[in-house]
Amino acid sequence: MANLVVVGAQWGDEAKGKVIDYLAQDASMVVRYSGGNNAGHSVTVGQEEYKFHLVPSGILHPQVTCVLADGVVIDPGVLVKEIEELCARGLPVDNLKISAAAHVILPYHRLQDQLEEARRGEHRIGTTGRGIGPAYTDKAARCGIRMGDLVDPVRFEERLRAILPIKNALLTGVYGVEPFDAGQILKEYRAHADYLRRFVCDTPALVHRAASTDRSVLFEGAQGTMLDLDLGTYPYVTSSHPIAGGACLGTGVGPTLIDGVIGVAKSYTTRVGAGVFPTELTCEIGSYIRERGREYGTTTGRPRRCGWLDIVALRYAAQVNGMTYIALGHLDVLSGLPEVKICVAYRTAEGVVMTGMPSDLAFRTEIAPVYEVLPGWDTDISEVRTLEDLPCNARAYVRRVEELIGVPVASLSVGPAREQTILLRDPR
Ligand code: IMO
Ligand code: MG
Repeated sequence: MANLVVVGAQWGDEAKGKVIDYLAQDASMVVRYSGGNNAGHSVTVGQEEYKFHLVPSGILHPQVTCVLADGVVIDPGVLVKEIEELCARGLPVDNLKISAAAHVILPYHRLQDQLEEARRGEHRIGTTGRGIGPAYTDKAARCGIRMGDLVDPVRFEERLRAILPIKNALLTGVYGVEPFDAGQILKEYRAHADYLRRFVCDTPALVHRAASTDRSVLFEGAQGTMLDLDLGTYPYVTSSHPIAGGACLGTGVGPTLIDGVIGVAKSYTTRVGAGVFPTELTCEIGSYIRERGREYGTTTGRPRRCGWLDIVALRYAAQVNGMTYIALGHLDVLSGLPEVKICVAYRTAEGVVMTGMPSDLAFRTEIAPVYEVLPGWDTDISEVRTLEDLPCNARAYVRRVEELIGVPVASLSVGPAREQTILLRDPR
């Protein structure tokens, strides 16, 4: 195989989990490199549905070593629960490794996330409220606690007792809420540490060895390109680096060890949370897509905003990720629409047509999409397994998308199940 990054090419929720699960059949390792339990990755196997927030989607394949690498932030309570659920379903978890350098989400991060959102009022980001942003903030401010600290009882207590007074000063002074008690946090987190200790190790050498020797490592992206802290629609972004380059930052593997980048995209666009969304459909077509695509958050249950495919964003994603292939999903959801639209450019209020992504898109609420309109298709395609068997209008849609982005489509997805996949080119 090859070392491949699987990256979200839109605003998250592109069904990366399904693509990872498919490719993991031939992988030796699957590594989550960024984000935390703001992610929600679903994998359907037969009648069983698995929802992962932290554990890599490769866990369903017994030969795969699954790594939560340095770039991930970990809420230990959530991870313990996820591991226990897997055990209860009879899945082996011994091949799970957690980086000692991954940062820990603490109770004050979750509270801070919620208080900051409330304070933003109408400018709120619509975060998942899981403490992700504050945990990454503390990492950059060098007052974070890492998994290696957590599983060392002495170091954990020392770090917490040094950091908590500052956190409490902020919480009581600025937000006027009750301070946290160090003893309580220590008690709760020591129990998590005892449970997780056996999984914690130094992962950079492990990932490097697998990437250079086996050459079959999958780097599992979370979130999506447009949510990247630097390259997304700032400030309506997450606090980490979902893009392919994040796989290097978040695992310690150099860029020359990466052989390819698969951008995962839906055949339309969704966004959950606030922020600009040029192709959003607030009419009944938006609801049609939401219901057919079951577009409700895996993590928060929020209804997702739905809209037509945005090629400006996808071309940008192809560029910033160095995408070698696209995995295009949810094609079945568009069945039954008389016509399908593709946004090929943005038009500003002054009438200027842009085909490139502006760095201040978040503030360009006046931007209007320029659409190309294609005929729709009526037939149910969820049982189709080859490109030839797709209705010709669906085929034409895929070809046009491929042409506009300039990156080959490797696979099409026509439903959530493993077998509802049409392979056009094998990226492995
Ligand atoms: P997966 O991996 C979709 C969005 C939130 C919010 C913004 C910041 O399932 O694709 P955060 O809690 O990260 O500080 O929220 O980012 N967001 C996601 N949207 N899918 C995700 O992950 C997301 N993770 C974060 O809705 O707008
Ligand atoms: Mg999600």
